[in-house]
Amino acid sequence: MKRSEFESWTRAELDAVESALEAWVPASTPACLGLAMRYGVLDGGKRVRPLLVLAACQAVGGLREAAMRAACAVELIHAYSLIHDDMPCMDNDVLRRGKPTVHVEFDEATALLVGDALQTLAFQLLAEHRLADEPRAQLEMVKLLAVAAGSRGMAGGQAIDLESTGKVLALPELEVMHIHKTGALIRAAVLIGAACGKPLAETERAGLDRYAKAVGLAFQVVDDLLDTEGSTATLGKTAGKDSKQGKPTYVSAIGAARAKELAEELRSDAQAALRPLGSRAARLESLADFVVLRKF
Ligand code: IPE
Ligand code: IPE
Ligand code: MG
Ligand code: MG
Ligand code: MG
Repeated sequence: MKRSEFESWTRAELDAVESALEAWVPASTPACLGLAMRYGVLDGGKRVRPLLVLAACQAVGGLREAAMRAACAVELIHAYSLIHDDMPCMDNDVLRRGKPTVHVEFDEATALLVGDALQTLAFQLLAEHRLADEPRAQLEMVKLLAVAAGSRGMAGGQAIDLESTGKVLALPELEVMHIHKTGALIRAAVLIGAACGKPLAETERAGLDRYAKAVGLAFQVVDDLLDTEGSTATLGKTAGKDSKQGKPTYVSAIGAARAKELAEELRSDAQAALRPLGSRAARLESLADFVVLRKF
């Protein structure tokens, strides 16, 4: 897909996602909770996960309205994970998406509740309207998101991260941590997007899953690289904190040069895996480029 075509698709979808989130994350809630939820979700972030949901849906000719709900649901889980990740009991960060973190702008208890409320809102979005012809298909979407966010997915990965801080992890253990804390939700984004369409042939489904896993791992490898090579200004979050906090990363484990090679290998593998889907997967292919080549 031509770069300019991908960029105009991205711009249009980012606007659509922003409007949907704007409408679905309520301001009118008790106390300042709604305000804090909107602060944590709106107007920031690359929105890679929603773009993956929408691109996967488009690759399989799925229902756009369903995909937009699913895209926002995945982003809400991601936003909640960032808000909790930044809290003093976790990574203790003060800057996120170029703004003070939620617990700094509001307070810790509010940040905790914002995360809780965003997580349940994500499932509300998936549940309150019919998103698939078959109820079973919609239940499958709910399950994909639940597993990806829970103890066998993101939350489990975050637990490994906390337990591993200050330790040296062997490469297979590091991979397990990254696959859980970041890979699982990214994989779910792709699979949920594809679930908005008709069931896929086995080779297509397997190819999409291989793509999703490779992009998910590549995402965190690049996040590790950017922490050492990016600047606070471009990242919108404090650079250089992983080594200060003794976080095991791909950079600490294998060095920046090898980590870059690995990200490239994962990009090629992800793109090769899309072959069974043909040209319908062009946007997913470009998103793999974006994930690996991004500078923020
Ligand atoms: C950062 O995610 C945290 C990780 C899972 C690596 P993103 O880099 O997608 O953060 P935003 O959404 O663009 O702010
Ligand atoms: C966070 O990983 C992963 C999740 C939020 C689940 P990091 O701790 O590396 O993310 P950043 O670098 O703070 O964005
Ligand atoms: Mg963290
Ligand atoms: Mg962090
Ligand atoms: Mg990081």
